[in-house]
Amino acid sequence: MKKVSIIGAGNTGATAAHWLAERELADVVLVDVVEGMPQGKSLDMAQAMPIIGKDVKILGTNNYADTKDSDIIIITAGVARKPGMSRDDLLKINAEIVGTAATETLKYSPNAFYIVLTNPLDTMAYLTMKKTGLPRERVIGQAGILDSARMRAFVAMETGVSVENIQCYVLGGHGDEMVPLTRHSNIAGIPLNEYLAADKLEAIVNRTRKGGGEIVNLLKTGSAFYAPSLACVQMAEAILKDKKLIVPCAAYMNGEYGLNDMYFGVPVVLGAGGIEKIIEYKFNDAEKANFEKSAASVKETHEALKSLVTL
Ligand code: NAI
Ligand code: 2OP
Repeated sequence: MKKVSIIGAGNTGATAAHWLAERELADVVLVDVVEGMPQGKSLDMAQAMPIIGKDVKILGTNNYADTKDSDIIIITAGVARKPGMSRDDLLKINAEIVGTAATETLKYSPNAFYIVLTNPLDTMAYLTMKKTGLPRERVIGQAGILDSARMRAFVAMETGVSVENIQCYVLGGHGDEMVPLTRHSNIAGIPLNEYLAADKLEAIVNRTRKGGGEIVNLLKTGSAFYAPSLACVQMAEAILKDKKLIVPCAAYMNGEYGLNDMYFGVPVVLGAGGIEKIIEYKFNDAEKANFEKSAASVKETHEALKSLVTL
């Protein structure tokens, strides 16, 4: 059985463990700093397995040694912004948490692939790559699958068409400047900008861009976790099963789309080699302008990180 370790056993981490176990994709290790909590959640999940007949081992721990020989590490550990805390304060705290998670897990699993979820996403993925020194194939950020799934869900709600017929592609950084592509997105092959009236489409694009905030406003005490964790599990599955799945993920840019030395959401081929290829779409001028605006915003956060921590 393959082994996936999840760092951070909070809402997204524990739910990712749930999806992984329920699909019998791998044995799961849940790591958190809080004593007892990952152990309790794991025991509870292990006790659900007989009911669905899945033979996976689920271990909760506060000890990185238990992650030894993982095939995949998913990093969800972090803190949410609290009143009075600036973005830079949050960036510094999460950079310390993610940096430690990355280097500690690498000691025990030098061959693992990394999937990063902690926010600010693109910058935390960049940090993980820099701290581990791994090639970009092995450090991947999750944002685009979630953002695209949100857009697909909104299109389904608007049209009543099955989600299975709806393909959407949201690229760029995981922030309000993200780039939902309305020309490449489609319903059963019909471009979205032909299928939907302009005002309806614009509303869907705006709602997608603010999709994370909409859920924070509703939940009040946390952020989304069902869809984000499942997005991570789809990435893990593509790697474990060598699926060659094309999905938007945050990847290290090395000249693609004219971008360098930064993480950014682009379509990638995910397989046993991690990111096996980056796909370059042809953009028109408007799409290019949106892409560049989003890149500038991500780059700004990368620069803030560099001024706060040594990479
Ligand atoms: P949460 O607060 O429920 O869980 C975070 C967990 O990290 C907590 O259990 C906490 O104890 C743990 N933690 C803190 N410091 C740690 C350390 N040093 N080592 C190990 N564990 C530690 O938060 P949630 O909802 O799970 O979100 C986690 C992160 O993922 C946040 O940064 C959130 O903004 C981000 N996120 C990103 C998404 C994306 O699309 N990229 C989507 C959803 C969430
Ligand atoms: C989301 O998009 C908070 O990044 C998180 O739900």
